[in-house]
Amino acid sequence: MDIRQLFSGEQLNQTVSVSGWVRTFRANRFIALNDGSCLANLQCVVDFEQTPEAVLAEINTGAALEITGTLVESQGKGQSVEIQVDTIRVLGTSDPDEYPIQPKKHSLEFLREKAHLRVRTNTFAAVMRVRAALSFAVHQYFTENGFYQVHTPIITGSDAEGAGEMFRVTTLNPEEKNDEPDFFGKETNLTVSGQLEAETYAMGLGKVYTFGPTFRAENSNTSRHLAEFWMIEPEVAFNDLDDNMDLAEDFIKSVLAYVLEHCKEDLGFLDQRFAQEEAKKPQLERSPMGLLERLQFVTQNEFKRVSYTEAIEILRNSKPNKKKKFKYLVDGWGIDLQSEHERYLVEKHFTSPVILFDYPAEIKAFYMRMNDDGKTVRAMDVLFPGVGEMVGGSQREERLDKLQERMKAMDIDEEELWWYTDLRRFGSAVHAGFGLGFERLVLYTTGMGNIRDVIPYPRTPQNASF
Ligand code: 4AD
Ligand code: MG
Repeated sequence: MDIRQLFSGEQLNQTVSVSGWVRTFRANRFIALNDGSCLANLQCVVDFEQTPEAVLAEINTGAALEITGTLVESQGKGQSVEIQVDTIRVLGTSDPDEYPIQPKKHSLEFLREKAHLRVRTNTFAAVMRVRAALSFAVHQYFTENGFYQVHTPIITGSDAEGAGEMFRVTTLNPEEKNDEPDFFGKETNLTVSGQLEAETYAMGLGKVYTFGPTFRAENSNTSRHLAEFWMIEPEVAFNDLDDNMDLAEDFIKSVLAYVLEHCKEDLGFLDQRFAQEEAKKPQLERSPMGLLERLQFVTQNEFKRVSYTEAIEILRNSKPNKKKKFKYLVDGWGIDLQSEHERYLVEKHFTSPVILFDYPAEIKAFYMRMNDDGKTVRAMDVLFPGVGEMVGGSQREERLDKLQERMKAMDIDEEELWWYTDLRRFGSAVHAGFGLGFERLVLYTTGMGNIRDVIPYPRTPQNASF
C-alpha cells in the first residue's frame, strides 16, 4: 500500500504495511515517512519502550524502512491519519553524518551536484510528479483528438533546422586514421527535430505527433537551454497557420487544465515556493501573479496574436528602446528578436502569452511557407512570460518550385533531402505543425527558475554527470 492510498482513509483501524524513506525522526517517537507517492509525509508513531535500542539508532534521515502498524485518525495537527507502529524493519541504513539531504533548505545549486538524491526533497519530487502528469496529459490530448504518435529516428542524416548545431554520431576512432567506412556509410547526427520525418507521416496518417529526445549542441549556457531536451511536435495535413495557432493554444490550455485538476497538492506546494522566491526579487522583477493564479489565467484567457511587423513597431516605440535600456536596440524591420524583446512583449506590454507570426524569411528555416509579399513566411512562435519561446512552428511550403528556390538560397542539400521534396511531388497539400519544448512547459508550470531543475539529469555545456 502506498502512502497516497493510505491518506484516503479506507484502511482506517486496519493493520497496514508501508515502505518509504525517513524524512525526520523527532523525540524518539515520530517518524515522518515519505515514499514518493505524494507530497505529504505519513506520521508513524513509535512506542520507543517496545522498540529495540539498535533499531531506534538506525532510524535516521534517509534510511529506508518497512513499517507495520495500525492506521488511526491522527491526534496531531496537519495530518488526517497516522500509523501506530507495531514493527519496524530497517531495509537500508543511512549514515546521518554522510547523507547530504538534511531536513533543512538546500540551495538548488547544491542539489544539482547531488542530482541522484535530489528527488528525495519535496521540491524535486513535486516537480517530477508534475512533469509526469504533463507527459500523460500530452498523450491524452493528442489521442483524444485523433492524432497518432510516430517515433521518428534519433540518429539522422539530415539537419532539419539547418542551424548546424548537431552532435555527430560515429563508430570511428578519430585517433585511427584509416579509410574504413563509417557504420552508416554516411555522416550521421543526433536529431535536432523530428519534424521532417513527421511531415511525411502527416501526409499519410493525417494527424501525427512526436514526443522524443532532441539534441542541440548550441553553446547557450542559459537557464532555458539544454543540450538534450524533449520535444513534442504535432504535424497536421490540411492545416494552415491559423489552424496551427488554434491547435497550439488549445493544446497548451488543455494540458495546463489537466495538471490544475490532478496535481493540486504538488502545485499548491510549488505555488508557496514560488511566492517565497518572488519575494526575494526586487519589486520590478516580480511576477505580477502567483503560480496558480497565472496557470488559471492562461487556461481562461485568449493568447494575443500579433504579427512580427506589429511587434517591431511596439518594440521600436517602447520605453526601454527609446531610453536605450535594451542591450540590442530595435532599429528596424528584419532583426531577429532577442529574449529581452520577447520578454518585454509578454511581461510588460501584453502581460499574457503572445503568438507572433509572419516573420521575415531571412531569419527562419527553409521549410516555412512564403507569403505573397515575398519577404515573410508563415512562421509562428508562442511566447510565455518567464520562459520566452515555448513553441516554434509554421505552415510548411507545399509548393515544389518555391521550396527548391528556398533550399538553394539557404544552401540546403536537395539531394540529401530528396524524400522531403518528393512529398511535394506526390499529393502535396497545405500542412502545418509546431514544436514545443517540454522542459520549457514544465518550467512554466512549476514556477522553477532554471531548466536544469525540471529534468532529472540535465545535459548542458561542460556537464554530463550521472
Ligand atoms: O523553434 P524550434 O527550433 O523549432 C523546431 O525545431 C521545429 N522543427 C519545430 C516544428 O515546427 N516541428 O524548437 C521548438 C521548441 C522551442 O520553441 C523551444 O521551446 C524548444 O523547442 N527548444 C529548446 N528547449 C530546451 N533547450 C533547447 N536548447 C531548446 N531549443 C529549442
Ligand atoms: Mg524557434
